[in-house]
Formats: sequence, structure tokens, C-alpha cells
Amino acid sequence: MRVLVVGGGGREHALVHSFVRSSLTPQVFCAPGNAGIAAEADCVPIGAEDVPALLDFAARERPDLTVVGPEAPLVAGITDLFRERDLLVFGPDAHAARMEGSKLFAKEVIGEAGAPTGAYTRHATAESAHAALARLESYPVVIKADGLAAGKGVIIARTAAEARASVDDMLVAKSFGTAGDVVLVEEHLVGSEVSLLVLCDGETAVPLAPAQDYKRIFAGDQGPNTGGMGSYCPVPGFERKAVDAAMDQVVEPVLATLKRRGIAYRGVLYAGLIVTTDGTKVLEFNCRFGDPETQAVLPRLQSDLLELCLAAAKGELAGATPVWTPQACVAVVLASAGYPASSHKGDVIEGLDSVATTDGVTVYHAGTAFAGGTSAGGAAAGAGTARRDVVTAGGRVLAVSALGDGFAAARQRAYEAVARIRFDGMQSRPDIAERAVRAEAGEASLFPAS
Ligand SMILES: Nc1ncnc2c1ncn2[C@@H]1O[C@H](COP(=O)(O)OP(=O)(O)O)[C@@H](O)[C@H]1O
Ligand SMILES: [Mg+2]
Repeated sequence: MRVLVVGGGGREHALVHSFVRSSLTPQVFCAPGNAGIAAEADCVPIGAEDVPALLDFAARERPDLTVVGPEAPLVAGITDLFRERDLLVFGPDAHAARMEGSKLFAKEVIGEAGAPTGAYTRHATAESAHAALARLESYPVVIKADGLAAGKGVIIARTAAEARASVDDMLVAKSFGTAGDVVLVEEHLVGSEVSLLVLCDGETAVPLAPAQDYKRIFAGDQGPNTGGMGSYCPVPGFERKAVDAAMDQVVEPVLATLKRRGIAYRGVLYAGLIVTTDGTKVLEFNCRFGDPETQAVLPRLQSDLLELCLAAAKGELAGATPVWTPQACVAVVLASAGYPASSHKGDVIEGLDSVATTDGVTVYHAGTAFAGGTSAGGAAAGAGTARRDVVTAGGRVLAVSALGDGFAAARQRAYEAVARIRFDGMQSRPDIAERAVRAEAGEASLFPAS
């Protein structure tokens, strides 16, 4: 069995780490991978967005399954091209990936499905958006670019001036290019967010354990948004009943609506939920595994992830029931100097060896490379060659994931491991999963009473 994973971040390292432990004993390729993935799989120097080169590689090597990590190649239609060549692939086709690729499309589907979500209006001109803002009675309001914007296309505007400036930035200055051709003005919802990742095979939908992530760079949710500075799984107070309700009220109706439109959704449908005093609503959908949620979800999964992904890709998910350890998992992201405005490359990372052998701890690599070498190094990093330093090569560098009996134990383990890793300018949040520890102890609830 040969498996190709597309991508080179922490999410892809987590996928590779699970796949190489599968009872199917696959040979795993990863394009492009990173310095951590190179220790577990064969890295192929092809970028995750170089769809023609990925297709050539797959046509040559004929992997039995390809799993696509990031959204950009999915929205660009990578799975359509693979399926045309009879290559089995895990991930939605270009039509289905519009659930992430177009926030307007997602809102239309959510509306048609009757799933609860924030009210919105859509605008293709600044005049139209300004008129909608002028009718507003209160702030904040949320301004969203329709298309993919690498996590930067959502502005929570606290004042009318800020909202107008955001609209002009998107629709007039075209700061997001064509992704900002259409803008949504959306009701601001208040509550606690939950990420629910759902495996789909076109017929059957199987939820994974819910997770929460941290988007802001600084402790106490201060500072600018990032790709994600940490996560944990499960979510105290969002138990089986809440997952079932989200499946019934959000995920299943949305999948049924897509189907009515002729779209069979295969792959991960990631529901970004918010639990408000007025019930659980959907904020957005993504078309792939979440990063860094995956780094906290997968360590708890006791079932064979590769078997689940194969079943999803083949339309054979019916009856699948993933098994989870009762332990909690906490993932702390370590980012490079300057992140999220910029990232710093080439800083030597120390302490990885000492953490590698710590019980219950897994270090997933994201923006890492070998010093002075090709980015991922491929097989050259293996036995027989001199050990090379691992250096920073991106914004988010590592995710330190720890399992423990309860959140307090998992969190302590994660931060003990973090304390043994260092590189110049290393940034991490000190408060990841603090609120989960409090919720677990019964000191505070993560969710508003409804
Ligand atoms: N309607 C809303 N009300 C309150 N917060 C929102 C709303 N929409 C988005 N957000 C906040 O902005 C973040 C990013 O928005 P999202 O729709 O997930 O876009 P993306 O992940 O593509 O940047 C959300 O996780 C949430 O914290
Ligand atoms: Mg989001």
C-alpha cells in the first residue's frame, strides 16, 4: 500500500504520523513535507499547490490513496484531476470545496439547508455595502471577503468607520484580489467556538471528536489573528449529545442540500460552530482537516486513520465508529520571530531530541527544514549521513501535543515539553487549554447557559 499526503504543515505531519502507524503498513510519500515528516515518510520536493507536478508524480508512482491537506489545491480542483485518472483520493472535488472557497456559496447552502447561522447581506460594490452599514443599529459587525484569504479576510469591525474602511479595502483597493470581489456584511455572534471535523464519503458522515483552537497570537486572545496558536480535544461541555445535535441541525442538512445540487461531498467537512445563548450556529465551513485542531484530535484516535480515510474515499464509511482514548490532548504551537506579520527562517531549533522520547508527547513539525539543505531533505536525512540541524522555515514551526489523564495533566506535559525546546525569537501562548482545565474542574463553563 502506497499513500501520498499533499502538504507540509503540522496537520500533514499529524496525518503522516498516524498513517505510518497503520496496520496496513503503507509506504508514505509527502509533498513537500518538512524536516519532521522526513523522519517518517519519503518527502517529494513538489509544492502543495503545484497541481500539475503532483498529478505527474501520482501518475508515475500510482499511490493507492492520496490525502490532500490544504484548501488551496482542493479549491483548485486537484481531486477532480486525480479521479479522472482513476487515482483514489481523499478530499472534496472543486464544486464541493466551494464550501470553503466561497463564503457566499456556503451561506447560500446553509440558508437552503435551514441550518442556524448569522444573518448577512452580500455586496459587489462599496456603495451597496455602505448602504447596508448605514442601516445597522449596533456594532461590532463582521466584514468578510468571499474567497480564500489565508485567514486574513475576516474583519470584526467595532465601529462604523472601521467597517467602512474594511469594505473599501476589499471592494475598492482590492487588497484581497478577486477573493474580495464580493463582500459579506454579517451579524456579529457572541459565544464559544467549536471545530467539528466530519469524515464524509458522499453518503455517510462520521464526526470526529470536537476541538477548540486559539486564533490570536497573544495570551488572553490579544493581538492579531494567526493560523492557530494551539488547540485541545475533546471539549468539556460539548459532549456526545451536542455533537449529535450539530450533526442533525447543521452537517446532515447541509450535506443533503449539496446532494440536491448534485454535489456528493467526500473528504473532511469541517464545521466552524459557535455556541451562543441562542443555540449553536455555524460560522463557516472548511473543506479539509483543521490546523492545529488535527494535532490535538489525532493523538486521541485509537482507530486506524488510514482505514477511515480509505473507507471515506471509496464510499464505504457506513458503520464506521472511531474509537477514542478518554485522555485529553493539548497542542501548543511554537511560532517563529515576527509571526504572524512575517516569519523568520534559519533559526536553529534545540531540544527536539530530548522531547522526542517523552511519554505521551508528540512534536509535529510545520515550518521546519534542515540547515543548509533542501527544504525537506527527503531520504538524505536518514541513517548514515551526518546529523543536520533542524531550523525554522515558516511562521508556525512546531506543535507540541501531549496526552494526559485530564486536561491539567495533558497541559502540564505539553508545557514541560515546550520548555525544553528553544530557538531565537520563539513565540508561544502560555494559556492554551487553561479554560479547559477550569471547565473540567467545574470552576467555569466554556459555554453560555441557553
Ligand atoms: N459572524 C461572526 N460573529 C463573530 N465572530 C465571527 C463571525 N464570523 C467570523 N468570526 C470570527 O472570525 C474568525 C474567522 O472567521 P471564519 O469565518 O472562520 O473565516 P476564516 O477562517 O476563513 O478566516 C472566526 O473563527 C471567528 O472567531
Ligand atoms: Mg475559520
